[in-house]
Amino acid sequence: MLTFLKASVPALILFSSTLVAETLPRERLNFDDNWVFSKSDPPGAEKSGFDASAWRKLDLPHDWSVEGPFDSDAPAGAPGGYLPSGIGWYRKVFKTPDNLEGRRIFIEFDGIYMNGEVWINGHRLGKRPYGYIGVEYDLTPHLKFGGRNVIAVRVDDSLQPSARWYGGTGIYRHVWLTHTNPVHVAHWGTYVRTPVVTGAAATIAIDTTIANDLSTEEKVSVTQEILSPDGKIMATTEGTFDAPASGQAIAKQTLELPQPKLWSPDSPHLYTVRTSLRIGTSLKDVYESPLGVRTLRFDKDEGLFLNDEHIIMRGTCNHQDLGPLGTALWDRALERRLRMLKDMGCNALRTAHYPHSPELMRMADKMGFLVVNETFDEWRRGWNFENDQLVSSTNDRGKARNGYNRYFTEWAERDLTDHLKRDRNHPCVIMWSIANEVPEAQKNGELETVQVLRDIVRKIDPTRPVTAGINHIHTANETGFLEHLDIVGYNGGGGSCFLYEKDHKRFPDRIIYASEVPHSLQTRGEYRTHTNFRENEHQIPDLTETETFPETDGWYESSYDNAAVRINARDSWHLTKTMPYVLGEFRWTGFDYIGESGGWPRVLGNFGIIDLCNFPKDTYYFYQSQWTEKPMIHILPHWNWPGKDGTVIPVHAYTTGDEAELFLNGKSLGIRRFSEENPYHLEWLVPYTPGELKSVARKDGKEIATTTVRTSGYPAQFQLETDQSELDPRQRDLAYLTLRVEDGEGNFDPKGERWVTINIQGPARILGVHNGDPLSHHPFQSNTVRTFNGLARVILATTTGEDILKPNEKREQDEIIVRANVKGWESRELRLTRTHEGEAESVFPPDDSAPRATDVYDEGVPPVD
Ligand code: GAL
Repeated sequence: MLTFLKASVPALILFSSTLVAETLPRERLNFDDNWVFSKSDPPGAEKSGFDASAWRKLDLPHDWSVEGPFDSDAPAGAPGGYLPSGIGWYRKVFKTPDNLEGRRIFIEFDGIYMNGEVWINGHRLGKRPYGYIGVEYDLTPHLKFGGRNVIAVRVDDSLQPSARWYGGTGIYRHVWLTHTNPVHVAHWGTYVRTPVVTGAAATIAIDTTIANDLSTEEKVSVTQEILSPDGKIMATTEGTFDAPASGQAIAKQTLELPQPKLWSPDSPHLYTVRTSLRIGTSLKDVYESPLGVRTLRFDKDEGLFLNDEHIIMRGTCNHQDLGPLGTALWDRALERRLRMLKDMGCNALRTAHYPHSPELMRMADKMGFLVVNETFDEWRRGWNFENDQLVSSTNDRGKARNGYNRYFTEWAERDLTDHLKRDRNHPCVIMWSIANEVPEAQKNGELETVQVLRDIVRKIDPTRPVTAGINHIHTANETGFLEHLDIVGYNGGGGSCFLYEKDHKRFPDRIIYASEVPHSLQTRGEYRTHTNFRENEHQIPDLTETETFPETDGWYESSYDNAAVRINARDSWHLTKTMPYVLGEFRWTGFDYIGESGGWPRVLGNFGIIDLCNFPKDTYYFYQSQWTEKPMIHILPHWNWPGKDGTVIPVHAYTTGDEAELFLNGKSLGIRRFSEENPYHLEWLVPYTPGELKSVARKDGKEIATTTVRTSGYPAQFQLETDQSELDPRQRDLAYLTLRVEDGEGNFDPKGERWVTINIQGPARILGVHNGDPLSHHPFQSNTVRTFNGLARVILATTTGEDILKPNEKREQDEIIVRANVKGWESRELRLTRTHEGEAESVFPPDDSAPRATDVYDEGVPPVD
């Protein structure tokens, strides 16, 4: 594990600025620390001399919307989760070391939501409306080397709703400073691909854009090296290219990598391409790009082949928010989420519905996910429905009133091009999705747009197919739109998920996959035996004649996989699994997300099979039983049903066994086996008696897993646990604490509801709390949290805006003591340690484990002149 860390930050951890500036041709420094922020729009805030001394100090990434409060009148409404938006400013004052004179200095924002407008020393650098794409500005001409410099950023998310989901607001992804020589590799300046792959060798083609900021033409020698994960040089080539004065040149090179190890989700073997630029013998730049060697074949009849092996995409669609942290990108939080998906057997991600962070792409490469990389949710048009029937798409309001439709005409080409350039070296990316459910695909839509966008993809990255997630396929089939896509994504909307077979016959050359289906809803720990269904075309039978759980709150969704929009998880997976020409499916969604709530008082989208704070719901285990082979069994519902003695309760099991036996208080209720008619869950109808339900799974007659749920007595205590007890602030480590309500015997109380107060002593702070309840309006940032259906989450970090650990700094106290109190119950205590060694448990060192600008820049300069 540590090898990774060492390999990825070679020789970069040098804390002397002189050394950094003189020895490395390129430095990439994290620029997240020591900003100030104001949620206001004061005139002159872009000016160098502006007095921001009263502004709040913080470190980025930062999302101010998640700070709340929830408000039923918030302009963002149900799409934005009833959270605040508006206008705000960020500033950062820093002193540039003198020895950088002669270097090029670039600032890169990975994402500002939205309308990020940037100034350096009062000089306006530009504005970028789309909140999901990174932008780089050249600071060099405006910097005072050896002097005080001020970056100011205005963020304007005041026109609402600006999306159909929660976007967060602020500089919510990382910020970087890059130092280069005047001759350097341009931003996103390499294009790496593998045109020929055989067992014996892979041909690696690399185009390198050389930027020459000198006023003389230069002869630049370009060396390409392919490095194995442990840093061994596996192949190399060199060539010399003329770079015009104040211009750019593209160096096209190929080399052979002998006996390549292939990249796949099961074995994500990653190489690095190291590109070095020299003038004479002087090294001018070193630039690294990821390389995965893999082949893809999309077959209209047989599905997807990766490295000549058939693979079904077992995918989830996800929004980018990290639950209680909002959209503020904490790499560790994202990593935890991806691990949960991986443990479930998920091998594919659809980045609904915009470019996700560069960190997601990096992690997907390393962990092994196939990515359908999406750029837009809307182009220009909105939906026009009459009496629930789609009439046309002639309405120009867009899909979200103040969404991307306002910017599409001016910015789409640039945003798409940048997205493609940013991500095209990642082996995880297998398709480019240029749209999600755009009304332009329908009657009266604009067919030219799909061709224009498709051609941009074909120009920038002809190696991957172009797709889009399409709903109402039955009408889109008649407009000619779909013929301009290489692969058609079937979203469930409008019943498209029932058309695979019919369309496969009618359009035999079409390659298809289920890009967004099923849309099933579920609330952790809530059950109903009657089906809750939005469309009637396909029936999910009720589980019992009369509703067994009429008391379930109407805003909560049942976890029996019987609250679905059109099709449930089991039926959808059945279609995908049994139709070989369907490349795979992407369920909506992996995680609950803030916003798109369906109306107050609900503030979350409840489609996730994992709740907002990372507790899995029952359906998570359905997928695990289908998508993995690990020995497992999971049963539902819980077994706390006071007042229901004798009532028949359906008990379901998901397992990787071929049969399971259920015992109630030690007595067998029989064995159930999977069969062709019943391949996805096992069911027992059990008259309720309190006690212990135990289930034993067997495969080929051998026991492989057991699980038990017990009726709990009166709630009497709670537990406090952490998933990580050593936290390194430079790795921005997090601890996810679990609060669990139990009875006096230690049995989990699935309905336990208590307020818990958390107190922390030592160098840590609470980043967010939640309990997964879609009706909770309690602030995400709080030291109190209520357990919902027995559980709650507290997320801790060791860094704070003012308490950032500086290099070589020693602190008196590294012990973090967390105390949790529930009125009337014994309190709980946990001890965590802050470490300084960088020995994180992760195999994905975040990019911000690279040097921070605080290592090089003097940021202690006063905020005003
Ligand atoms: C789809 C859409 C998703 C989400 C989902 C909710 O139509 O593509 O973004 O809105 O519906 O059901």
